[in-house]
Amino acid sequence: MKTIKIGSIGLGRLGYEHAKNIATRVPGAELAAICDVDAKRVAEVAAELGVPNTYTDVAEMCANPELDAIVVVSPSMYHAEHIKIALDAGKHVFCDKPLDTTVEKCLEAEKAVEAHPDKVFMLGFMRRFDDSYADAKRRIDNGDIGKVVLVRSYTQDPRATIEGTLKFAPHSGGQFLDMCVHDIDLIRWFTGSNVKKVWGLGGVFEFDLYRELNDADNAAATVQCENGAMGFMFTNRTHGAGCNVETEIIGTHGTLRIANVGAKNLLQIVDGNGAHEQYYPDFLSRWHEAYVNELAEFVSCIREGRKPEVTVYDGTAVSRTAYRCKESFETGEMLDME
Ligand SMILES: NC(=O)c1ccc[n+]([C@@H]2O[C@H](COP(=O)([O-])OP(=O)(O)OC[C@H]3O[C@@H](n4cnc5c(N)ncnc54)[C@H](O)[C@@H]3O)[C@@H](O)[C@H]2O)c1
Repeated sequence: MKTIKIGSIGLGRLGYEHAKNIATRVPGAELAAICDVDAKRVAEVAAELGVPNTYTDVAEMCANPELDAIVVVSPSMYHAEHIKIALDAGKHVFCDKPLDTTVEKCLEAEKAVEAHPDKVFMLGFMRRFDDSYADAKRRIDNGDIGKVVLVRSYTQDPRATIEGTLKFAPHSGGQFLDMCVHDIDLIRWFTGSNVKKVWGLGGVFEFDLYRELNDADNAAATVQCENGAMGFMFTNRTHGAGCNVETEIIGTHGTLRIANVGAKNLLQIVDGNGAHEQYYPDFLSRWHEAYVNELAEFVSCIREGRKPEVTVYDGTAVSRTAYRCKESFETGEMLDME
């Protein structure tokens, strides 16, 4: 089967991880080009990973006829623009979440995808590719816990990475968009229903930057879906012991819980403080395998002529919900989705 030659945009925290995975771990893929506005970073990564083609301009890279696909890991506010450039250049596209930072731009991304029905487009909701989350979904689809009644999901980054988080915050799109998109995606995926009503809450408990950004450093939302199922999500960036992501799905006949202790491995350390486990130190280590799995699925879809389960419409629906949560947080009102 054909090797898929990929050009990757953005070599920051996650972009470097994706580039390394494509170069070394994704079956059937070759990292044939990289692009970042930071020329020094491009040169460093090209030397480390042995990438033959390097760029500082997205359109120039996408014009390379040797490339089959583009992976977009640039800052969120450029996603729709980069998706369109790549699709118009005849490439398949994988874009990391969120689809973009406004609903209008998400709709532009939808149009670009619709204009190229022969191309594979996939959005990076990587939790769906984590073994535990995928197992939970299989059990739900199998009817093991009956009807899904409530999904509770927490997304907490560790305090240890707060410096990078604060730098990223101004172009992140805000906590509901940047962090809660994963929880919203899970709520829609596990309940099989769109969100119909939201109540966003939050506050600035520690970092004044979030007040300047009209955002919360600790945020939560309660939602209700069109089919009646409920969801609750909570996010912050200062979890004491590493990356904590936990999800509970309550059904009419049973409950599924995922990673409620966030343990890095099976090691238990017994010392003067008692017995304890280590957490994953950051999101990159927590989702390491899921990041490989999602790109493997993207490449398989291209090679097998399939379309991925995660669509551009999921991206818009999730972003729309995240923004409605933000609006609810700002106004203090419980809001219906428009
Ligand atoms: N799925 C996840 O778990 C997850 C985790 C982290 C980040 N992300 C997403 O990945 C994207 C990147 O996040 P990050 O944390 O790596 O950001 P980052 O700020 O660390 O890196 C962004 C990189 O893009 C480069 N860049 C900026 N403008 C560019 C342009 N016009 N063309 C090419 N390169 C450009 C920057 O120089 C930088 O190297 C964001 O959309 C973010 O939401 C997803």
